[in-house]
Amino acid sequence: MSSRRILITGVGRGLGLAMTEKIVELGHTVVGCSRQKAHVEALAKRFGEPNRFDVCDVADDAAVGRWAQAVLGDGGPPDLLLNNAAVVNRNARLVDVPPDEFSRVIDVNIKGIYHVIRHFLPAMVARRKGVLVNFSSGWGRSTSPEVAPYCATKYAVEGLTLALAQELPAGMAAIPLNPGIINTDMLQSCFGEDADSYPTAEKWAKKAVPFLLALGPKDNGKSLTAP
Ligand SMILES: NC(=O)c1ccc[n+]([C@@H]2O[C@H](COP(=O)([O-])OP(=O)(O)OC[C@H]3O[C@@H](n4cnc5c(N)ncnc54)[C@H](OP(=O)(O)O)[C@@H]3O)[C@@H](O)[C@H]2O)c1
Repeated sequence: MSSRRILITGVGRGLGLAMTEKIVELGHTVVGCSRQKAHVEALAKRFGEPNRFDVCDVADDAAVGRWAQAVLGDGGPPDLLLNNAAVVNRNARLVDVPPDEFSRVIDVNIKGIYHVIRHFLPAMVARRKGVLVNFSSGWGRSTSPEVAPYCATKYAVEGLTLALAQELPAGMAAIPLNPGIINTDMLQSCFGEDADSYPTAEKWAKKAVPFLLALGPKDNGKSLTAP
């Protein structure tokens, strides 16, 4: 398989970091963003060029625009775009979730994906090539108490992605992906110590990354689950 250019949001921790490690190991190039400068600097030092890591908050449309301009000018559009960055509300009944926390979950999980699509997809469509994977969740297809804001955003990711899939030219794909249940900071927040019984992100990435790399136009508009 020839080397591909893969864009990942939220590469500092969790699944984003594990995907970065596996993808680089397999000989592909990663272009990633994180909100935290320390994470960006550590990744840049560890993986070097042609991989590229920038500070960018996906909830900030103008910042995503600047990042896209730099990335597209530097190496062109990605072959695979993984909209991975997300946050979860602290476990709470919906009526107890503060409005600013509710807004933040919407801003990152839904609008963040929209910002990245808005700034990167036109260059991919111009080539009529590329796969876009938007990270959904089991909680984008079923629900639990105390994570209603998160569930709402992941159901939205499913709808947004399936509608977008109907707009893409032949040769491209947009896919909502449930990654499964993996022991990351996010799962610790939702599950507490029960999270420890689930696989690590590194173990997950061993199977998930080859699965992601194999996605193509045949998968457009399908709600998928990682192995
Ligand atoms: N873990 C699971 O079991 C599970 C299950 C279903 C779905 N998912 C989905 O899988 C994806 C990854 O989850 P995870 O478990 O790896 O979560 P995580 O451990 O909390 O990591 C989330 C990553 O997203 C980044 N991020 C958050 N907000 C951001 C923003 N505004 N701009 C840029 N980056 C931002 C974080 O970076 P910072 O360091 O800047 O905070 C971090 O690197 C998410 O979409 C999540 O909803 C996970």
